[in-house]
Amino acid sequence: MTFDSPAVTIAFTINGTPARLVTQPLRRLTQVLREDMGLRGTKVGCDAGDCGACTVLLDGEPVCACMVHAGRLDGATVETVEGLARDGVPDALQSAFLRLGAAQCGICTPGMLMSATALLRRTARPTEAEVKDALGGVLCRCTGYSKIIQAVMAAGGALPEAARAEAGRAVGARLDRVDGLPKVLGSDLFGDDFPPLDALTVRVVRSPYHHCAVKLGDVESWRRAHRGVEAVLTADYIPGRNCFGVIPPLADQPVFARTRCRFKGEAVAAVVGPAAVVDALDLSDFPVTWTEKPALLTPEDALAEGAEAVHPERPGNVLVRGLVRRGEPETALAADDVVTVSGTYSTGFIEHAYIEPEAGWARRVGDRLEIAACTQAPYMDRDDTAAIMGLAPEAVRILPTSVGGGFGSKLDLSVQPFLALAAWVTGKPARMAYTRPESMATTTKRHPARITATVGATRDGRLAAMTFQGTFNTGAYASWGPTVANRVPVHASGPYLHPAYECRSVAVHTHCAPAGAFRGFGVPQSAVAQETLFDELADAVGLDPLEFRLRNALTNGQPTVTGQVFQQGVGIRACFEALRPAWEKARAQAEAFNAASDGRIRRGVGVAGMWYGCGNTSLPNPSTIRVGLKADGRLVLHQGAVDIGQGSNTVITQICADALGLPVERFTLVGADTDLTPDAGKTSASRQTFVTGKAAFLAGRALRTAILQRLNARDDSPLVLDGTCLRAGDRELDLSTLEADANGFVLKAEETFDPPTAPLDENGQGEPYAAFGWGAHVAEVEVDTELGRVFVRKLTCAHDVGRAINPTLIEGQVEGGSAQGLGLALMEEFIPGRTENLHDYLIPTVGDMPEIETILVEDPDAHGPYGAKGIGEQVLIPTAPAILNAIRHATGVLIRDLPATPDRVRAAIKGRG
Ligand code: FES
Ligand code: FES
Repeated sequence: MTFDSPAVTIAFTINGTPARLVTQPLRRLTQVLREDMGLRGTKVGCDAGDCGACTVLLDGEPVCACMVHAGRLDGATVETVEGLARDGVPDALQSAFLRLGAAQCGICTPGMLMSATALLRRTARPTEAEVKDALGGVLCRCTGYSKIIQAVMAAGGALPEAARAEAGRAVGARLDRVDGLPKVLGSDLFGDDFPPLDALTVRVVRSPYHHCAVKLGDVESWRRAHRGVEAVLTADYIPGRNCFGVIPPLADQPVFARTRCRFKGEAVAAVVGPAAVVDALDLSDFPVTWTEKPALLTPEDALAEGAEAVHPERPGNVLVRGLVRRGEPETALAADDVVTVSGTYSTGFIEHAYIEPEAGWARRVGDRLEIAACTQAPYMDRDDTAAIMGLAPEAVRILPTSVGGGFGSKLDLSVQPFLALAAWVTGKPARMAYTRPESMATTTKRHPARITATVGATRDGRLAAMTFQGTFNTGAYASWGPTVANRVPVHASGPYLHPAYECRSVAVHTHCAPAGAFRGFGVPQSAVAQETLFDELADAVGLDPLEFRLRNALTNGQPTVTGQVFQQGVGIRACFEALRPAWEKARAQAEAFNAASDGRIRRGVGVAGMWYGCGNTSLPNPSTIRVGLKADGRLVLHQGAVDIGQGSNTVITQICADALGLPVERFTLVGADTDLTPDAGKTSASRQTFVTGKAAFLAGRALRTAILQRLNARDDSPLVLDGTCLRAGDRELDLSTLEADANGFVLKAEETFDPPTAPLDENGQGEPYAAFGWGAHVAEVEVDTELGRVFVRKLTCAHDVGRAINPTLIEGQVEGGSAQGLGLALMEEFIPGRTENLHDYLIPTVGDMPEIETILVEDPDAHGPYGAKGIGEQVLIPTAPAILNAIRHATGVLIRDLPATPDRVRAAIKGRG
């Protein structure tokens, strides 16, 4: 489209420097900046004016660069994130973002900085309301906005000093992110930020129907008829296996469908050529015939008698079933002295909505492939891509780029197979970045759930039993469906002592986009049912909801529903107790407000608890870390755990530093690279601090031991690294005199940690996790009973993290996870084929987020590094049920079908009269 217009010459000023360009007048400013001028600090999240990631200043005013055409630039002044720092020294705002933890993944950071810069030029000391107003057009999916607001407000004043931890004092310190500076400078390199100069572009041809037969025509003739197209890739080009999946025995998703597409957006072919050619192609003449077929879009349809099989080898469209059973719940629930409550719930697909769409590049290097792309699971990508390409795993090198948010979906392959094949077939580097609709239509989602549950308690408020049946729409392919179906039964009890319990789950195939991993693996959905039923049960037995939970919360020495008994580290009671002051105060305030109100605006306060097992469920789950010293005196950490914004680069370095006894600033970090760094597993399941952190602890300890032995020094000798001179107490060693190994280390340690678990038996009894994280949230809401609008006023969040390795980063996790929980409760629902963009699919903006108070509880775990437990998934789980309980407290109605949109809340209130 932009290539039809005659080129024009534009002269403008960019970051204070005059520039002159010959370009197409309709070319987007984002393309001019990123592709023509190499200023890739300006990010692209949607190309539609919805996300604000591309915000720059045009004549001093913030604009979405994706919505500005080059033709408007003549004579204009453009400022981008690259213009903020001077000689690499961040300005006051960038420094505030770094110090206060306002950049997590960092993909939204340039847009935030530019919007805030415009505000700060007008108002040096803005109010919170002014900051929220200024940032309203920029979405962040990671932070929950709290720390961003704080940073903008702090930029005009004196910042707190950077925390500097001495040797042995890093754990617990609020250190700046070790990878934070590039994020605030705009120089961090995400998937689409550093393609090889001559890279070809890949564009995928996708099914327009949820379910259809597909027949490709003569693609070679089509290619020859389109000048410049270098290759058209189809299933016929795949040298290995036309199939991938995160759980190898269940891998079922074709790279390119041959005869049948099982969801809207499924790939059938890819076109490869120079960007100018491929971007301009009209694919409506691509030789493919689609024959639409009836689609099964819900589990009810797919489970119906006679329903067509989505996969013939999976009878009844059932991917997998899960079960945990303990005692005789039916008998217990029928007892005379037991009060029961029941409910049926539904939740929809939830889109991850990370601001960075999937992107990357690949090149062929002899008989090997190198793939640089955003991912959460480099070794899994390597093995799966190698199988597709018919190569040995070692012949594929995965170089994870910085990741602009993942939350589970970037555990699955996306661009990698297309890139690998394009580079292999053409022999030239290839690049691609999903469009926003492509990303939303084709990547995994949170499983929609339909849940029916019953909970009973004796009249003194002790739980008697619970039954739970959950049906999960797992979409067209397996992805992480089995993980969800197996994790839910373990967790649906919540962190409570249940004398009898049965939870059954089933993952059902439909013709929807695959459902996969999303922060919590199904537990947020189950917690909605369990925690809201608990409030109804507390009412039924006449107990305060917090009191009811405290009466039933697990303690050390009590069995979980899988029969696992922890003798230490069960921190849920401490979390509830930590919330008690906030709970009592908020309930009293709400009651006073409601007593004085005319009834239209009602306030309510709700509470909900959670637990979450750290790491894989009853499966091996190892991480390996390597750390060593080089002859030139560098202390190098090979840290293969992908940091997707949560802070593992920093946390793992802090742990290793203290175990070794040298300060964090002495470390040189080598990030994930499957040729170089050992396998630290995938970034998921709240495992990196717990599992990889423990490996880092062990590696640090082992290196320390090796050093002390080499120098024949005492165990408690302090270490000092001074150039190439390594001292332990009064002993010293010149590292430059030692012989280096293949990785250049003269002294090194490599250690693995695999948390101890035990398999579950046929009733789901066993020890699925070495440790759980525990937490609880209190939500305060205001409900407009006429309009049904819910405004969350405050969240107070208590989490037992075992040991807070870096409190700033943990607060960031709590705030960001709570924002996603708020979205789950109140606004988010992905509808295949309808909400494939960020203006129809709503996520919380800065204006939706309340104050969030985080309370960190530290009940150490025996396995975790310095006692630390996971936190990444935990933070999202209690938010939605706490909000739903608060709505019920305010209005008397419980919304069981999420999200609790104004129309649903209003209808429920009206229905109740
Ligand atoms: S990329 Fe411009 S608003 Fe999203
Ligand atoms: S830090 Fe804002 S989107 Fe990741």
